[in-house]
Amino acid sequence: MQEPQIFCKLWRMSKWFYITTAIDYVNGQPHLGHAYEKIITDVIARSQRSLGNEVFYLTGTDEHGQKVQQAATAEGKSPQQYCDELAVIWKNFTKKLNLSNDDFIRTTEERHKKIVSAFLQKLYDEGHFYKATYRGYYSTKEETFLTEKDRRPDGTFDPAYGNVVELEEENYYFKLSIHQKWLTEYIELHTDFIYPDYRRNEVLGFLRNNALEDLCITRPVNRLNWGIPLPFDKNYVTYVWFDALSNYITCPANYGDPVVTWAAGVECLLDSPLELWPADVHIIGKDIIKFHSVYWPIMLKAMGLPLPRQILVHGWWQKDYQKMSKSTGNVVDPIAVIDEWGCDAFRYYVVRELDIGPDGNWTDSGFTSRYNAELANGLGNLVNRTLSMLKRYRNGVVPDRSSDLEKDVSEFVNKIKDQLKGYKLQDGLISIWEIITRANQYIDHTTPFKIAKDPAQAQRLDQILYSLVETCRILGVLLYPFLPDTACAIFKQLNLEQKPDKFKLSNWGGMDTGHKVGEPSPLFPRRETK
Ligand code: MSP
Repeated sequence: MQEPQIFCKLWRMSKWFYITTAIDYVNGQPHLGHAYEKIITDVIARSQRSLGNEVFYLTGTDEHGQKVQQAATAEGKSPQQYCDELAVIWKNFTKKLNLSNDDFIRTTEERHKKIVSAFLQKLYDEGHFYKATYRGYYSTKEETFLTEKDRRPDGTFDPAYGNVVELEEENYYFKLSIHQKWLTEYIELHTDFIYPDYRRNEVLGFLRNNALEDLCITRPVNRLNWGIPLPFDKNYVTYVWFDALSNYITCPANYGDPVVTWAAGVECLLDSPLELWPADVHIIGKDIIKFHSVYWPIMLKAMGLPLPRQILVHGWWQKDYQKMSKSTGNVVDPIAVIDEWGCDAFRYYVVRELDIGPDGNWTDSGFTSRYNAELANGLGNLVNRTLSMLKRYRNGVVPDRSSDLEKDVSEFVNKIKDQLKGYKLQDGLISIWEIITRANQYIDHTTPFKIAKDPAQAQRLDQILYSLVETCRILGVLLYPFLPDTACAIFKQLNLEQKPDKFKLSNWGGMDTGHKVGEPSPLFPRRETK
């Protein structure tokens, strides 16, 4: 975790681009779905930085609740010790994926609990909660009361709910029903609030056809004590989802965000606070859309906070057209793939294969064939051929500026920037590969390896070599949000000292005549298909 003070030095009098992922259940295993969500968030965060914005990327772990309490007890550990051990795995996972997250929040941290408490007290004082008794069927596995609608036609509950018990309990409820009208109108009016459209329609359909029931926001401590205690009633802890969703604002509060600290009624002790809230985009999977598009906006409205600008909902991965499941061994282990193929190969495949929205499917053969065709033969070959020819024919020295590929490349650069502004990551990669394909075709058509044998064509060879080496440099800049290590490796082979992390470096002509490039080395060595 990095200290708030470090960020304060970078503070500007303006709002940062604030982007978040869902926070993962600490007791699960990091898998392909978690990796995908964090990588697409990282690509957006990096591309926003490349566009010149101040960006804050938040991810973390969701650590309270019954399952954690039970698992810790089963291992003979305190829940805190159990979570501390698992949180290390999740933090290492962010490094493995080469994420550029600015903080990692854990819901068991004091800084989180303190702000959740402040908001609970505020909502209680302002009359948003009431206490009532409820009798019903409770699924311990899902940590939720089930309703009649959850019964199957034969009257039983789906085994997915695990052990279902009848319970009578007094709890605190959050008055959700009074918020239904404005929320429906808000989503109708703000057509970009939930993306993609079909997810927005799903939420609107739910809001139009169902009366919102008030939300139970507590669990009695005698049943569950691994949670944030209610500040106004020590016999209860807070419902995990109330706790978890709040991470999106507790982090900004800790950086002194004026909007959040004011609403929470907490003092901001920092000289240079960060303006983060509202979030520009929450990235989540399709299974948790109701929590983010219904409960979360209502919580925020009641807290007196503006709503996030957008909720971007991605689909789910399957492997070989089947649900991934540890018990059948049908899983993709992102760490194993990265160890075998490298982080950028993994990042490339997941972003290229699956657009943000629909469900996707992982196949090992699809991965290998994209690796060989697009990374090794496409990108790797272009950079390698270009540098090798420049070395062989011009001793590695960049010739006079020329503009053979300028028009094509510049058009794509503008297109790619727009695609990234619109979070069209898959389209962005497709456009980058159009440049690569064109540049490879340009080599085939202009045949520099033949021209090099004819001294009369020296000037033509210079033109071709400049166009190619300049295209490689620009590709480094465009690739940086997606494949940061590869982009840096391209710059290193070009012997450029800057980092390729600003799109303003993508203007044609940035490569200086007379500059001497470095040694070529394969970016993605070709692999045999198993
Ligand atoms: N802890 C809650 C989120 C709280 S956010 C305030 C949770 N955690 S989770 O670990 O189960 O899931 C984290 C994210 O991973 C979710 O956005 C979820 O949709 C995503 N995925 C889990 N499995 C997935 C796939 N198979 N494919 C793609 N994403 C998936 O829910």
